[in-house]
Amino acid sequence: MLNHYNMCNIINNFSLKEIHTFGINVRAKHFVSFESIIELKEIINSNVFFNNKSFILGGGSNLLFTKDYDGLIIHNKITGICILEDNNSNIIVEVGGGVNWHEFVMWSVSQKLSGIENLALIPGTVGASPIQNIGAYGAEVKDSIKRVYAFDIKKKKLKIFTNKECKFGYRDSIFKANLKNKFIITKVEFTLSKIPLNKTTYGAIQEELKDLNLSPSPNNIARAVMNIRIRKLPNPDEIGNGGSFFKNPIIKTSDFKKLQKRFPKIVGHKTSEEETKIAAGWLIDNAGLKGYRKGDAGVHNNQALVLVNYGNASGTDIISLSRMIQKKVLEKYGIQIEPEVTIL
Ligand code: FAD
Ligand code: EPU
Repeated sequence: MLNHYNMCNIINNFSLKEIHTFGINVRAKHFVSFESIIELKEIINSNVFFNNKSFILGGGSNLLFTKDYDGLIIHNKITGICILEDNNSNIIVEVGGGVNWHEFVMWSVSQKLSGIENLALIPGTVGASPIQNIGAYGAEVKDSIKRVYAFDIKKKKLKIFTNKECKFGYRDSIFKANLKNKFIITKVEFTLSKIPLNKTTYGAIQEELKDLNLSPSPNNIARAVMNIRIRKLPNPDEIGNGGSFFKNPIIKTSDFKKLQKRFPKIVGHKTSEEETKIAAGWLIDNAGLKGYRKGDAGVHNNQALVLVNYGNASGTDIISLSRMIQKKVLEKYGIQIEPEVTIL
């Protein structure tokens, strides 16, 4: 105990309502922010850390709190975007874990760099981007990440993970699996291309560019993606939500073909010859649940994969709704859908 001390600015009984996007009215027993590794070390060495369970928070955009958090919430606020290498074809840039993801995307396109423009307007922090390998509109962050710097909570020292060591998958990484809650990501190194990748084949990007009378470029693709997202997804500043509540299930292609016979309009894309990823939004929508509302917990009107808090829903209201949806989807299609959001 002698080694543990209290220097950091720990706040007690802290309201979490405004700092996560579901807007659930919950409190943390203790809350603290860090802006540097030195401050993070102070926290890890403090009595409060030693005596409590803890949880690392970024932008709070992939979380559902079901009750008050009886421990220490540690909020990552490490900033900074720094170019490490610049050659003919690409640059390597390191970015603080607390930097807002969308601001980093806007910085990247302002430099005419390519790789992450399809991921514009995803809420949250750079430090959380590797956790579930954020993805949208034909891109995944794993394709731009070079290395991840993470602080080992137990060993109290930094470890650098190569891209391969992160074991990225669909909405998955080693930080969401074996190393869950064991490392705090302090910064991420990205390789960004000077040659535009112009990934425009996913969804309505091409149509949107045409409507805007724009040719493909990193900046224009980001604009198109932003327009599409604004139309489809609820703005957390207006309606509480955590993005897609469930992951899209991946099933055997042979099973998908059987489902197709029963539901000819079912939406799925092969991820390999053997496996097909199904649009869970379609499954929920086609089960008649789009727009369903019970109290202040609901299924979004434009995107059935997104559960929303219309104001005063509790975390358990959202969980009850999610369980009802899982049950209906299992009964109708024989598919178990799993949450994407972290539930606390
Ligand atoms: P948080 O919600 O704060 O945390 C999420 C998890 O990561 C927690 O387990 C937390 O402990 C952990 N974590 C956070 N920071 C760190 C760190 N520095 N070190 C270690 N662990 C950490 N996701 C997509 O992939 N694609 C989308 O298109 C997409 N669209 C969305 C749209 C909306 C409207 C919303 C609300 C969410 C959307 N999301 C999407 C989900 C979310 O934006 C991402 O998962 C994002 O990366 C979460 O970042 P965050 O900083 O808010 O993480
Ligand atoms: N669909 C419906 N009804 C709905 C919703 C979707 O029929 O209510 C159909 C659509 O018509 C489309 C298909 O389902 O044919 C897929 O829909 P969409 O393109 O909106 O994508 P999604 O699979 O629902 C995924 C990600 C999103 C990401 C978008 C765009 C997951 C779990 N979700 O959603 O990520 O932004 O693709 O790439 O993979 C998130 O992870 O939080 C998230 C928002």
